[in-house]
Amino acid sequence: MRHRSLRTARHRVIGGLAAALLGTAGLTLPAAAQPAAARPTTAEPAAAAPAAAKDGLALTPPMGFNNWNSTHCRADFNEAMVKGIADIFVSKGLKDAGYTYVNLDDCWARPQRDANGKLVPDPVRFPKGIKAVADYVHSKGLKIGIYTSAGTKTCNTAGFPGALGHERSDAQQFADWGIDYLKYDNCNNQGVDAKQRYRTMRDALKAASETTGRPIVYSICEWGQNKPWEWAADVGQLWRTTGDISDSWGSMLSITKKNLPLAPYAGPGHWNDPDMLEVGNGGMTDTEYRSHFSLWSVMAAPLLIGTDLRKADAKTFEILGNREVIAVDQDPLGKQGTVLSSEGGRWVISKEMADGSRAVALFNETERPQRIATTAARLGLPQADGYRLRDLWRNQDQNTSGSVAATVPAHGTVLYRVSADRRWASYPPAAELGAGAAPFTEAGATAPVETALRNFGGTAAHQARVELTGPDGWRIRTSWPTRAATLPTGSRLATRWQVTAPKDVKPGAYELTVRADYRSARGDKVGTELPVPVHVVVAPPSGASYASDLPWLSAANGWGPAEKDTSVGENAAGDGHPITLDGTVHAKGLGVHAPSEVTYYTGGHCTAFTAKVGVDDEEGTAGTVAFEVWADDTKVLSTGTLTNADPAKAISAAVDGATTVRLVVTDGGDDVTSDHGDWADAAFSC
Ligand code: GLA
Repeated sequence: MRHRSLRTARHRVIGGLAAALLGTAGLTLPAAAQPAAARPTTAEPAAAAPAAAKDGLALTPPMGFNNWNSTHCRADFNEAMVKGIADIFVSKGLKDAGYTYVNLDDCWARPQRDANGKLVPDPVRFPKGIKAVADYVHSKGLKIGIYTSAGTKTCNTAGFPGALGHERSDAQQFADWGIDYLKYDNCNNQGVDAKQRYRTMRDALKAASETTGRPIVYSICEWGQNKPWEWAADVGQLWRTTGDISDSWGSMLSITKKNLPLAPYAGPGHWNDPDMLEVGNGGMTDTEYRSHFSLWSVMAAPLLIGTDLRKADAKTFEILGNREVIAVDQDPLGKQGTVLSSEGGRWVISKEMADGSRAVALFNETERPQRIATTAARLGLPQADGYRLRDLWRNQDQNTSGSVAATVPAHGTVLYRVSADRRWASYPPAAELGAGAAPFTEAGATAPVETALRNFGGTAAHQARVELTGPDGWRIRTSWPTRAATLPTGSRLATRWQVTAPKDVKPGAYELTVRADYRSARGDKVGTELPVPVHVVVAPPSGASYASDLPWLSAANGWGPAEKDTSVGENAAGDGHPITLDGTVHAKGLGVHAPSEVTYYTGGHCTAFTAKVGVDDEEGTAGTVAFEVWADDTKVLSTGTLTNADPAKAISAAVDGATTVRLVVTDGGDDVTSDHGDWADAAFSC
């Protein structure tokens, strides 16, 4: 499995929002302009008849903890951890917030069964056995889960025993220990039919739990391989829809995209499971983790914390403990949110709630701030003069006359709950804070930045004020207004600022912050903030330069970092090999892995980009990729799909006048496995 690691992706170039920002009103698309597939669907497929719900289990998506994402098989997965998490669930209010299951993943057992064919807990990790841990967890008013595989062994290479052929005995053992939840994996399944394997364990769990009176939630983990959403509603309470998540933006995003279309199959007692949470594990920014948590909630996904809470910081607790976001996930109507629109990476996902309101995620997949908007009517809310718009991350009520909008930071999510509320006018008006295209500036030079605060509420905003601040040493001035005594409905406070970078500043991505404050007629205060990215750049030298000798603005890469003058190699930096296409070695170039995007600042100075492209020989005959060259927002060259069997392709793209040039490698339409792309001899003529 090749995972996308995008630590550098957020430094991407910012394009032009500015014109739209200071001049135009809402960008909401009429329903007719949306692709049919993106329109909400209310149809519940027949296959999803909630037979499983009859037992009353998991009527809302299960919430709890699982150690896998934080420890994998490491030694710190042990009794102390499980007890520690249970303690923290209670002491930090997570139990009160709904987190109930403390689940053990792979590696809890000894590799061999005992003489009677019984499972044996690892005596080092669990010296007192599983029952003692279960008793402890139960004593805290919590529940406990365990793991095994619907195969001869579990997934870990150490080869712990799986339950295939031992279903009755293992299920009885789990029940006797007091287990409340089983995650049943798919490794080493010997090719036995999935429906048969998962139904056999369902029946075994049912029989065993009848002997103890303790029901067992049944989590099917066959990674979506056999479309469990079509047959598992009466088998388990949840089913994984994808392969494993990893702690990266790319992984989280690709799983989201696979899980979203399955909305019609989810409901009380039968949930789509896009895998456990990575929030707090360090591979994403807090903005990205808030998106992750927002998306899981709006998708009515199980919320299984995957970080070691004993080491978690305040931000992690703040995200995982946000009760209003959890309430979206746990809504008793049990609908998974549906996609209303997604063009250009600007997602509107709407979840119908039991009280008639809608939870709406405005999710920005892109690397730059985006305005994302919809309306109360498109959300299916009844016609009204005004609505209550609650921001679930800022925990703030506002009013809107119908528009539901925000400028959302790169990779961010604004999560609203929108309802028809007769008291709408008593809340402060909603206002959108936007910022125009982030400028490119050279050290010591000045560039304009535009900001606007637009009142889209149904009442006037008062004492409005905007302020732009930057890192130490940045000079920010304006001769435009920064205050408005009153900002009536539909009007905006637009400001053009002059931003001067310090003389000695290094090239790279920097962040300014625009902040706005205003009051309602009653005096209630609203404060809002938006990051404004700025790039300090150097103009490319005249003549021909190898791309690998120039600084790039950003490089997003599907597997480890993009490499200069070697192939991409593996996951570590600097682990590539000589760039080799059809047996020919190239001393210069870029080695990348799909999906990849390397962006250069050309500042209008360059005319052409040339390279020889293809799939590097290091993966043998595997790998299919396609190369694209973008001059600003225009695709100026595209190779189509190339495999290792194709000869290296010489390309030349005209990039006259472009401010940025983006070198993109896609997976060629299949998956990204072995997709090692080379931009051999890549060079700019400037
Ligand atoms: C599989 C599952 C993971 C985890 C591991 C444990 O990969 O999908 O969630 O349980 O096995 O080995």
